[in-house]
Amino acid sequence: MKTAVICYSMSGNSLYAAEQIAERLGADLIRIEPVKAYPSEGFRKFFWGGKSAVMGEKPELEPYDFPDGQYCAAVICSPVWAGRVSPPILSFLTKEKDKLRGMEVSVCMTHAGGGADKAFAQIRKVLENDSLKATLSLVDPKEAPGQEVPERISAFCSEILS
Ligand SMILES: Cc1cc2nc3c(=O)[nH]c(=O)nc-3n(C[C@H](O)[C@H](O)[C@H](O)COP(=O)(O)O)c2cc1C
Repeated sequence: MKTAVICYSMSGNSLYAAEQIAERLGADLIRIEPVKAYPSEGFRKFFWGGKSAVMGEKPELEPYDFPDGQYCAAVICSPVWAGRVSPPILSFLTKEKDKLRGMEVSVCMTHAGGGADKAFAQIRKVLENDSLKATLSLVDPKEAPGQEVPERISAFCSEILS
């Protein structure tokens, strides 16, 4: 059985990590998109996205393919929004909680400086899963790749495969 890498990314950083993880694991990459896109520029981007995350909103998602019985492991990739997991990924986790319960789940969060630990804790709580297989937090890997990102992604993938 295969691994699924599930990713929401507004500006490409989580996608950058997700693509590298999927390539190293030979995994399927599943993109998550809200039906109503969040503003992606200026003040509105932080206001509406931040508000949505703080309110715990679970936006409706565009259709995606995550069939039952096809995956034994999942890697969730998301940006940190207001110290939380992004709302589209919160929708996915809530909707697919039962399916994810039968899998080994790992998480990669990208952020601009903080909040990943709080987001990992939030994911553990939503999934009622105290034992994520592996966790990785990266500071804007696409914008600032000079932080040993490939090495850290490789170490994360080795932990997932161990
Ligand atoms: C609405 C919003 C809220 C954010 N909140 C945080 C935050 O609490 N902490 C942080 O370090 N970065 C925060 N960021 C920055 C993103 O987490 C970071 O740039 C991330 O790598 C973006 O990933 P993406 O390019 O895949 O969208 C926020 C960005 C947005 C749009």
